[in-house]
Amino acid sequence: MPILRSEPLITELEIKVRLGQMVLDLARDLRGKELTVVGILRGSFMFTADLVRQLYINDIHPLIDFIFVTSYDGTESTGEMRLLKDMSLDVRGRYVLIVDDILDTGRTLQFAKDYISQRGAAQINTCVLLDKPSRRIADVQADFVGFTIDDVFVVGYGLDFNGRYRDLPYLGVLKEE
Ligand code: IMP
Ligand code: MG
Repeated sequence: MPILRSEPLITELEIKVRLGQMVLDLARDLRGKELTVVGILRGSFMFTADLVRQLYINDIHPLIDFIFVTSYDGTESTGEMRLLKDMSLDVRGRYVLIVDDILDTGRTLQFAKDYISQRGAAQINTCVLLDKPSRRIADVQADFVGFTIDDVFVVGYGLDFNGRYRDLPYLGVLKEE
C-alpha cells in the first residue's frame, strides 16, 4: 500500500498563484464569448471550483456543468472510457472550456473533446491543472496548463488513489512502502 509523502509536490499557495495567472490567459481568449465551463468529474471538482472563482474576479460569469468520465482502476488506466453522467446543459453553439485535473495518457480529454464536439459546441478549449507529457498515448494537448510534472502519481486537490486523498488542499505524491 503506497503512503503519502509528507512534503507537498505543489502547495496550496502555489496552486492559488498559478490559477490567478492562468485565468489572465483565459480571460484574453474568452473576451466577448459566451462561456460554458464543463468540468470532468470527479477529479476536477476542486480545480473547477477554484478556477470559476478566479474567473469571477475577472468579471467572467460562465455557465457551469459537469460530465462524469472514468477510465481508471487504481493507478493504471484501463483505456476503456465510460460516460457515467452526461451534461445537463445544451452546448450547441457555445464556447466550451473543458476542465480536467490531469492530462495523462490523454484518453479522457480526447474522449471529452470528441463527445462535446458531437454535441454541437461552436468552439472547444481545454484547461488542465497538471500535464504529464511523458505518459501521452492519445494525440491531444491542453490549451491551458497549470503545471507540467514528471511521471509520478499525484494525489490531492481532487485527485485520488482508489478514492482517497481527494480532500487534500495541496498536491502530494504517493511513495511505495
Ligand atoms: P488519461 O485519460 O490517462 O489522460 O487520465 C486522465 C485521468 O486519469 C485524470 O482525469 C485522473 O482522474 C486520472 N489520473 C491520471 N494520472 C493521475 C495521477 O497521477 N493521480 C491521480 N489520478 C490520475
Ligand atoms: Mg479525472
